[in-house]
Amino acid sequence: MSSLHLEAKVGDIAETVLLPGDPLRAKHVAETFLDDAVCYNKVRGMLGFTGYYKGNRVSIQGTGMGMGSTSIYVNELINTYKVKNLIRVGTCGSIQESLKLGQVLLAMSASGDSDANSLYFQGMHYAATADFDLLMKAYKIANDLNIKTYQGSVFSTNTFYDDEPNRWEKWQKHGILGVEMETQILFTLAKRFGVKALSVLTVSDNIITGEATSVKDREQSFNDMMKIALELA
Ligand code: HPA
Repeated sequence: MSSLHLEAKVGDIAETVLLPGDPLRAKHVAETFLDDAVCYNKVRGMLGFTGYYKGNRVSIQGTGMGMGSTSIYVNELINTYKVKNLIRVGTCGSIQESLKLGQVLLAMSASGDSDANSLYFQGMHYAATADFDLLMKAYKIANDLNIKTYQGSVFSTNTFYDDEPNRWEKWQKHGILGVEMETQILFTLAKRFGVKALSVLTVSDNIITGEATSVKDREQSFNDMMKIALELA
């Protein structure tokens, strides 16, 4: 048996799955960090791999960008493949001066503008929250690896391009650290189906100042983020 958007057989996907937006990043991580990695999905180019990290079985699955695409893969991973730990590994844009390019963020909660959430909750506002156990473990792993992390809230948007010049002001004022496009629906679905989720993010740009990371910084912070996520397996 497989699911609608994944051609893996049940059993091909590990209990812990890392979720980058970019399927080619999944391929890169599988080739760079995993032993005996096998590609289990090529449907729509949304590559997924299962392999071993320090002897522990782990999968890495692209989600595409945005909450619509992410929710398709998260639903199928949980309901067909019985995945138990879902860890987003991605980038975010900082909206705080204190959060600099290249830093690693562990998302405790995610606000957002997902219609899927507002329709589901009939216009009320669900507080999408990370799994505390995964969050604690990631924080401890980062400390042990000497990687400084920032803990806090993110905003998940379905609109990358927007004309509103002061769009992030209110969220900045309410302590949101970064903006990305997937975490809110990941946390919501994980709670709905009784599994664990976390988002580990690196700051790729500052949305207020327009600064963006150099290729070199991106690689360092990307590797830091991946090590934290892979150790969780
Ligand atoms: N907007 C939305 N998502 C993002 C951004 C951004 O500026 N940067 C990284 N992910």
